[in-house]
Amino acid sequence: MPKFTLKINNESHTFEADSDTPLLWVLRDKLNLVGTKYGCGIAQCGACTVHVNGIATRSCSRPVSSLQGMNIITIEGLSANGDHPVQQAWIELDVAQCGYCQAGQIMTAAALLERNPNPTDEEISAEMYGNICRCGTYIRIKEAIKKASKL
Ligand code: FES
Ligand code: FES
Repeated sequence: MPKFTLKINNESHTFEADSDTPLLWVLRDKLNLVGTKYGCGIAQCGACTVHVNGIATRSCSRPVSSLQGMNIITIEGLSANGDHPVQQAWIELDVAQCGYCQAGQIMTAAALLERNPNPTDEEISAEMYGNICRCGTYIRIKEAIKKASKL
């Protein structure tokens, strides 16, 4: 099996995997970074979102062989103490319900604010559109993104 070395959460990780293995399964099964969730497996729900070179990326649909030399950040690496502005706003507004989709929501929101620190309602809706929440926390998510933009 081929060996890969990837930079994940600012650390170098070396592991063996088939080259078409999705990043999601490397994170969860080989590196025990289980904050990133499996929802659909076909890039349609957003539960598996991580950052690749700062861009919100569906890890279920990115083969490990396409990620050499890239900077990957998962929910575990978003902040040292869970105090990224998006995480703070999420806690203050008690956004999560069951929580399953929330790592993906937070990673998508954080990438949005990184490139657009003051998004409009329309911009937030457009960016978050592909992140599904079965519990329907969408209103709190939008409020939390607006709050995070001020932190
Ligand atoms: S599990 Fe990746 S988008 Fe649904
Ligand atoms: S909080 Fe339950 S799916 Fe989003």
